[in-house]
Amino acid sequence: MLVRQVARLAAAAQRRVSARALHASASRPSDALFVHRDTPYNNSKIPFSFTPENMKRAETIIARYPPQYKKAAVIPLLDLGQRQNKGWTSISVMNYVAKLLELPPMRVYEVATFYTMFNREPIAENFVQVCTTTPCMLRGSTEILNTVCEHLGGLKVGDSTKDGKFTVIEVECQGACSNAPMMAVNDDFYEDLTPKTTKAILDAFASGKKPKPGPQSGRHTSENSAGLTALTSKPYGPGEHCQPDFQ
Ligand code: FES
Repeated sequence: MLVRQVARLAAAAQRRVSARALHASASRPSDALFVHRDTPYNNSKIPFSFTPENMKRAETIIARYPPQYKKAAVIPLLDLGQRQNKGWTSISVMNYVAKLLELPPMRVYEVATFYTMFNREPIAENFVQVCTTTPCMLRGSTEILNTVCEHLGGLKVGDSTKDGKFTVIEVECQGACSNAPMMAVNDDFYEDLTPKTTKAILDAFASGKKPKPGPQSGRHTSENSAGLTALTSKPYGPGEHCQPDFQ
């Protein structure tokens, strides 16, 4: 009797535990689909191969690795394929790289779906990636992201403009936190952004120009914006301040 009661209580406790929610906050699933679905613009029947120029590059890259480890070239080759394929990695690009490196296609799919720099959907001419991780967020990245979306005609994150000029996404830290807030446009970083400089950068890209990358505040790289606070006096010369015996 007692044994049965204990078993009933244990089962009830287990039900309570398994019903407990694991997350207190709402989950934010990635906007990327990790499973490939054939579409008219992305299916394995669409041919892809490197241009002769890119094939030469691919051969140089593969030659960097011992022949038995040429699979190590998968990331640079996917990058090369993505660049040739207007900025996105289609299933045909992945299959082609797998064939070139003599890998099962699944090994390449695993890499392409793991690294977010591989876009698995077509993107526009200018790929805008706004960082919203903590240091950028504390320096106003929410306002920057809103400015980008509004300035591009009320775009939502993950969308592209109708004219095919801009795609906007939100990304994690890009490693330029000392110049936060920042966004990347194609291969370049634009840092120390304000809503005004953000709009100016987008306008320049919209008119086919390429604005100067880097900090938009006028400071040089990531130098202290308050000016020099250390090493402000002339450095010692050789032997200075040493004991006479050592001079
Ligand atoms: S947090 Fe934005 S670049 Fe690091």
